[in-house]
Amino acid sequence: MQSTASGEEDDRSTCTTDKTLFPFSIAHDFAISSAPHLQKRWQQNKKITLHSRKSILCANRDPGLFLTWKELLVTVPDEKSGRQPILERLTGYAEPGKMLAIMGPSGCGNSTLMDSLAGRLSSNTQQTGEILINGRKETLAFGTSAYVTQDDILMTTLTVREAVYYSAQLQLPDSMSRSEKKERAEMTIREMGLQDSMDTRIGGWSIKGLSGGQKRRVSICIEILTPPKLLFLDEPTSGLDSAASFHVMSRIVKLARQDGRTVIASIHQPSSEVFELFSNLCLLSTGITVYFGPVSMAEELFASNGFPCPTLRNPSDHYLRIINKDFVAVRLRKSLINILVKSYKSSGTFQKVQQLVSKIYQQKGGTLEKKGSQANFITQCLVLTRRSFVNMYRDLGYYWLRLAIYIALCLCVGTIFYDIGFTFGSIQARGSMLTFVAAFLTFMAIGGFPSFVEDIKIFGRERLNGHYGVGAYVIGNTLSSIPYLLIIS
Ligand SMILES: Nc1ncnc2c1ncn2[C@@H]1O[C@H](COP(=O)(O)OP(=O)(O)O)[C@@H](O)[C@H]1O
Ligand SMILES: [Mg+2]
Repeated sequence: MQSTASGEEDDRSTCTTDKTLFPFSIAHDFAISSAPHLQKRWQQNKKITLHSRKSILCANRDPGLFLTWKELLVTVPDEKSGRQPILERLTGYAEPGKMLAIMGPSGCGNSTLMDSLAGRLSSNTQQTGEILINGRKETLAFGTSAYVTQDDILMTTLTVREAVYYSAQLQLPDSMSRSEKKERAEMTIREMGLQDSMDTRIGGWSIKGLSGGQKRRVSICIEILTPPKLLFLDEPTSGLDSAASFHVMSRIVKLARQDGRTVIASIHQPSSEVFELFSNLCLLSTGITVYFGPVSMAEELFASNGFPCPTLRNPSDHYLRIINKDFVAVRLRKSLINILVKSYKSSGTFQKVQQLVSKIYQQKGGTLEKKGSQANFITQCLVLTRRSFVNMYRDLGYYWLRLAIYIALCLCVGTIFYDIGFTFGSIQARGSMLTFVAAFLTFMAIGGFPSFVEDIKIFGRERLNGHYGVGAYVIGNTLSSIPYLLIIS
């Protein structure tokens, strides 16, 4: 398989083959021995690597983050059988400097695996098995990992530039100047190919703005600003054309390889060029591992079981076509998956993966920093107040619509009860007017609820990714709403 992007290849080979960067040398040996094309390239680049290795080591002594999971079982409640498994005893690992691609037919548990690894499973699920970071049981501290979810949850009233810049102000440390943060934000936007839409509003259900693929790229931009040690990407290329997918993925792979970041991405339709960027592949079918190991060895598994990839066919399409059995009879589906699973379990790749996972378990790596450096509490409150104020100003549904209705109501009530006088009869009229106004105000308060729900979704995403805490959000939202409440009152 030949990649067309020679520039990307150079980065890749230089960084992936840097043995001394990682504490677990077996990972390196495995990758090299199992991928003949890497072996050749490694020899070619050995000299260049030796030189660059020194500079990389000087610049970055962080050994990175090894994530391993063993016998991971996730179940959800089921009316018939009590509990239904979604993931069945999965074992695997993700290593620094490499991208692990999780692939499988939709609904087979790709997102559930990522949620489970990121500790984000919903409350009705149960999980057993071990997930270790650098061989230790640790919870992912805020700021260590970032998760780009399958749905794009963005502030629809902001432009691309504003959304990324506000996020940069929240995430980047105070030691960086404003202009540096702005520069970082704009550079990331350009790297994601969004330079022409920098001043376009993101848009949502009320106003049309960016396309789906552009929103996807904005979501990725926001999460790679820092960048995190562990990056989860749930379907990063959905909605993107094949060229955009390649550029976005190669940027992420480059980031992983240069700085030793660990990247896990679920992906459905990688083009052959994108597929070549992956280091390791996890193929799932109905929650069962069909294959886990280096991308280059997957071909062998399928070929040895009578499913060789035809020439000129994208290997990922071929694998997915073989393991997607949603459209055939249950009996056939189970027998075929069983053949592949059995074959994989008896293969050398499976043994090597097991050995590697055990090795990582034994060799404890470095502990995680509890919290990455980011903006302090006061800065976060100020940025959130400003962002929320802008959002409330631009979102007609938040306060302006209510204000217009209240003005109309004032005019109606004013004309009906105009000059009611001071007789005993007017007391009753005043009473009914006050009751009407109070009831109307209470009901109308619900008018801003849809916009508030959208706000809460954004808060949920950003809080889980560690951009800021509950306190900063409450203060920001309260302060920004005061001017509007004063106008209304
Ligand atoms: N919290 C949950 N409760 C019930 N069923 C769930 C839950 N999470 C996932 N599932 C089911 O598990 C299967 C896999 O879901 P998911 O991992 O989101 O699929 P995908 O591979 O498309 O990302 C789906 O059939 C989904 O309905
Ligand atoms: Mg999914």
